Order: sequence, then C-alpha cells, then structure tokens
Amino acid sequence: MILGVPKESFPGERRVALVPLVIPSLTKAGWEVVVEAGAGVEAGYPDEGYLEKGARILPSRAEVFKAADVVIQVLCYGSNDQTGQADLPLLGRDQCLVGFLRPLGSLETLQQLAATGVTAFAVELMPRITRAQSMDALSSMATICGYKAVLLAADRLPRMFPMLTTAAGTITPARVFIIGAGVAGLQAISTARRLGAVASAYDMRPAAKEQVQSLGGRFVELPVEAKDAEDSRGYARAQNEMFYQRQRELLGRVVKESDVVITAAVIPGKKPPVLVTSEMVESMAPGSVIVDLAAERGGNCELTRAGELVVEHRVTIIGTINLASSVPYHASQMYARNLTAFLLHLVKEGRIQLNPDDEILQETLVTREGGVVNPRVLEFHALPALPK
Ligand SMILES: NC(=O)c1ccc[n+]([C@@H]2O[C@H](COP(=O)([O-])OP(=O)(O)OC[C@H]3O[C@@H](n4cnc5c(N)ncnc54)[C@H](O)[C@@H]3O)[C@@H](O)[C@H]2O)c1
Repeated sequence: MILGVPKESFPGERRVALVPLVIPSLTKAGWEVVVEAGAGVEAGYPDEGYLEKGARILPSRAEVFKAADVVIQVLCYGSNDQTGQADLPLLGRDQCLVGFLRPLGSLETLQQLAATGVTAFAVELMPRITRAQSMDALSSMATICGYKAVLLAADRLPRMFPMLTTAAGTITPARVFIIGAGVAGLQAISTARRLGAVASAYDMRPAAKEQVQSLGGRFVELPVEAKDAEDSRGYARAQNEMFYQRQRELLGRVVKESDVVITAAVIPGKKPPVLVTSEMVESMAPGSVIVDLAAERGGNCELTRAGELVVEHRVTIIGTINLASSVPYHASQMYARNLTAFLLHLVKEGRIQLNPDDEILQETLVTREGGVVNPRVLEFHALPALPK
C-alpha cells in the first residue's frame, strides 16, 4: 500500500498530515510513504527527515496523488473551501482519502467528492470510544487551539497573568473566564493556570463541572438548565433561543468581571450560539481581551469578525481562524500520530478492510463508490438512509 502526503494547499496552512517520526511504524506494517517535496517545511519537517526514515519525495502534487492508494491531508476539499476543489480531478475510484472533510458542512461539496469515486473518511466523525482515542484528531487540534488562545490573550492583555509580590507592590492575577469547557476550553484552563491566572469556566453540560475543577478551575454555575444537554456521543445539543437569551443574561456579570474571556462553545454542524453580546463587551474593563475560538463558524461573540482582530469598546476581540496551524510542528505531530493509528486499523495484511461491523470505519466513512454513504451525514442533510 502506498500512502501519499501532498503539501497542504489552504492559504496560510502550515501543518502537514504526516511527520517523519511515524514512518517506521507504517513501513513495518507494509506501507510505502510518498511525500510531495516541501510538504513539511512550514511545520519544521524538511524533506531530508522523511528521506531518512525511508519515504520517497516526489516533485509534484499530481505525482503524489497518482502514486497513492491512500492520500492523507489535514484540510481536504470540504474543510479547504478555498483551493481544495483543485484536488478533485486527481482523485479516483481505487483510492482512499483521509482528513478533515467538514462532513456536516456543504452537501454539494461532499457530492462532488463522492463523484470522483474516492473512498473518503472524515476524521471529524471519529467515534468517542476508548479504542478510537488515539485516532481523535479533532481533540488533538482542539488541544492546540485552547493552548494558543490563552497565549494570544496574554500577549494582547495590558496586564500580566500571574500574581506577583514585588518591592513595587502586589500585582493581582488576571481573571480568565472560559465559556465552553470541551477539549479546547479545558486546555485553555490548564494553560491559563500555568501562567498564573485565576481561571473559571462555564459549560451547559453538567459533566463539565468535575473536569473544570480537576484542572484547578472554578466552575461557574448558572441557574439555567439545558434540556438533554449532551447527546450519546458526548457532544452538546443545540438549545432554543430562549435558553441562550437566559444564558446571556446570567453570563453578563461574570464577563464584566473578567480580564480575558475565551469562548469555545460549539455544537457540531450548527452555528455557534451568541453568548457574549456587544453590551457585555462594553461592560468589560478597557484593555480586556476576548478570544473567540468559534469565530470560523460565526462566533460566540456578537462583535467577532472571522480571521480578524478588532477593537470595540476598548476591548480586543480576536477571531483568528485555523489556530492549530499556528503551532504547526506539534499540531502535525499529533495529527500524524492520530492518522497513523487510524491507517494501521484500516489496513490489515496489506489490504483495506472495510468491515461493516467496525464502528470506527463505519462512522468515519463518508463517500464510497460514487455516493455519500454515511448514515449520520445523510440524516444531517435530510437525505434518505441507504438500504441495509
Ligand atoms: N474519546 C472521548 O471520550 C472524548 C474525546 C473528546 C472529547 N471528549 C469529551 O467530550 C466533551 C465535549 O468536548 P468537545 O471538545 O468535543 O466539545 P465541542 O468542541 O463540541 O464543544 C465545546 C464545548 O462547548 C459547550 N457548549 C456548547 N454550547 C454551549 C452553550 N450554549 N453554553 C455553554 N457551553 C456550551 C459544549 O458542551 C462543549 O463542552 C468533553 O467533556 C470532552 O472531554 C471525549
């Protein structure tokens, strides 16, 4: 089996889907690895590193796609809505594609991908079961985003994070408030605490309380209860506008008292709820910072502009998108480890094994033999289920 690693083509993307470190475990399992020249350079992995571990370097993108039985990317067409389409003519029926596909995004995009005949797997759909934990790329990238969000906030804040007792008096610690304590939010808590800030967090899933507290964060309880807060996969369920309205009212006081607010409240496939209004921003002290990790999909803050840093009411609102790409070395390493675990699971005895009873493969498989075949994706896009 030949594994192809093209250079990422999304503008500004610095990650690469495979790093040299994982090549030995793939070659041991019978894989041959081909990498597009320069694919890892931006992430800190020059071609020589791949060559040393036994990969072949091919000069062009087209050659990598042509040679590969399985192509892996970070942002495939779908999540790469800018340049991803150019890859469609390079894909074919006897190939697999693995990466971020944004399966709950545009149906048309998925159908275009399906029309190439490629067998495509979306890493976003990895089931949250113990067996698949090592393959969970979404959590890996969320970890990086949570970490980086805190650094961006600390860099911009006109105050220091830690409490200091100095000859020039005592400096009080920064107050960091995190809305949405998923993987990114939890990592933000840890990072803010390591920098010495006082961290608190809120999430509508009651299960989050214990996780926040175990990291030394204070859990903010609001007297508003979500209906069926969590689905069977552990994701939050969308609530009605009345619920969000109540949340905003109650969050106002905490936001006002915070120096930094990091928002990471998202629902898969849905527009994120607006939880920080313009009025709430105005109530914050001058110089405060909001980092909106939901910016790409519309944002949790009313004033967020995706991909931009704006200053409104003397508060900085950072809506940087694709944050994981700004820590490309470790983001690529984590992603490569996740994908290697997946590939070693997918291919056994030199063949792709699409066992219909395997939860991992069935939940991540999106397109096959010209059609969109994933039950969750079909249901999400209100398409009829396929016959069993
Ligand atoms: N393998 C596994 O078992 C596994 C893997 C990853 C995550 N998890 C767990 O799943 C949970 C969700 O993590 P995630 O990173 O996927 O979340 P996510 O990225 O889907 O969402 C981020 C967080 O926002 C919260 N949220 C959504 N709407 C909100 C609102 N209106 N108000 C407040 N909070 C809101 C969600 O509850 C969630 O915690 C976490 O407890 C995480 O530890 C488990």
